[in-house]
Amino acid sequence: MIEYRNIRIALLGAGSVGAEVASLLLEQGEELGERVGAGLELVGVAVRDLDSPRTADIPRELLTTDAESLILGADIVIELIGGLEPARSLLLTALNSGADVITANKALLATHGHELFEVAEQLGAQLYYEAAVAAAIPIIRPLRESLAGDRIERIYGIVNGSTNYILDRMDAEGISAEEAQRVALELGYLEADPTLDVEGHDAAQKAAILAGLAFHTAIPLESVHREGISGVTQEQVSAARAAGFVVKLLAVCERLQDPDTGEDGVSVRVHPALIPRDHPLGAVHGGNNAVFLEAAAAGPLMFYGAGAGGLQTASAVLGDVVSAARRHVIGGPGVAESTHANLPVLPISKVTTRYQVTLEVRDEPGVLARIASEFSEHGVSVEAVQQSVSAAAAGGPEDGPATATLVIGTHAAREAALSATVAALEASAVVESVSSVLRVEGT
Ligand code: NDP
Ligand code: HSE
Repeated sequence: MIEYRNIRIALLGAGSVGAEVASLLLEQGEELGERVGAGLELVGVAVRDLDSPRTADIPRELLTTDAESLILGADIVIELIGGLEPARSLLLTALNSGADVITANKALLATHGHELFEVAEQLGAQLYYEAAVAAAIPIIRPLRESLAGDRIERIYGIVNGSTNYILDRMDAEGISAEEAQRVALELGYLEADPTLDVEGHDAAQKAAILAGLAFHTAIPLESVHREGISGVTQEQVSAARAAGFVVKLLAVCERLQDPDTGEDGVSVRVHPALIPRDHPLGAVHGGNNAVFLEAAAAGPLMFYGAGAGGLQTASAVLGDVVSAARRHVIGGPGVAESTHANLPVLPISKVTTRYQVTLEVRDEPGVLARIASEFSEHGVSVEAVQQSVSAAAAGGPEDGPATATLVIGTHAAREAALSATVAALEASAVVESVSSVLRVEGT
């Protein structure tokens, strides 16, 4: 057997994920080398501050603050710094110096992925990123390789662990959104900037990566429709529970025909949605992630597991290390990302789905008929209506007109039609307020 020289690995970042990667490489590098057919040598670990506390025991002589110098001479560079810069520049330096690169950085890939993949292709290098979406769950490699011969129709699921944790606590314990977010923050579940999770940016970045891969189309991050969970209230969560639903932050990537032109396109969106409690996504608790995928030949597939965590994410990074190292041993150029289909990303107004609309209305004769006519005038078909007396009416007539709460479920309708209906309802004299509009998925 040919003896292959050691493969030199440079690690950039030794935080939650990087420290675990360093520790596993130091402890298990020999065994991983056996799987590759060559020794794996961690040549250095770049950090911002040599004295920062670390969760792993990394020998001091491996640490450096000079990432640029560390990269030169490495065969594989692992970027676990996060953010756009200097991560982007360092990865470009690594590619230009002949290394294969590995990253878990979804923000970077969703923003500058096109540039990085292009440079990698020109140089015959490979960019691996299994950990960038749903951390420990293998989803990138199945899409890139196992399902490369199939046609992906739809991907939907929970790709952000911290918001799932917040919604799950609100559902299970009846606590407010603020209280649930405070606990998530204390447990370190949220990103350093919590708005990245709470406002759906993190999930949108992951959705853009998944959709690009699944539909062979460049997905600009700005084209992803994004709504976070900051507007989700305990009232909505409790009402959903009473009606047999659970509120989840969903990422949905699907092929769609433009309803106006008939042309093929895709929709990529992130928003809170009602899911039936007995749907498998309804059973995704805590910080876990789950991704459903529908492929033309393979049919429905489900991926479930830890969507965050240093050690869990390190597992995906090390899988990429073994793949990259094997490629070094075997040789040959990297496999390029393909955006050949180049499908248009359709705006949310062209999407068709079901909705649940909650209204506070005047409790008077003829009100229900007027509300129903607003739906029918805008071409939205009502599936179910539930009425209850509002707490506001409990004081009696002297406190003002009696009001009722109406919860209206629709059949599948176009978003544009539903938005027009909601605008008309808000302007209606018999409607006190539209208190909630949620999309319904998984039915
Ligand atoms: P951390 O913030 O915990 O760690 C960042 C590391 O990068 C630190 O070691 C820091 O050094 C180092 N660093 C920062 N700036 C520089 C710089 N200019 N030069 C060299 N080193 C630098 O991040 P995480 O480990 O949580 O995340 C890393 C990546 O993995 C991110 O892209 C994240 O989105 C992704 N990811 C994270 C998951 C998780 O569960 N944490 C899950 C999936 C993906 P120092 O220690 O000295 O401050
Ligand atoms: N902030 C992310 C989450 C970490 O909550 O899922 C993993 O990407």
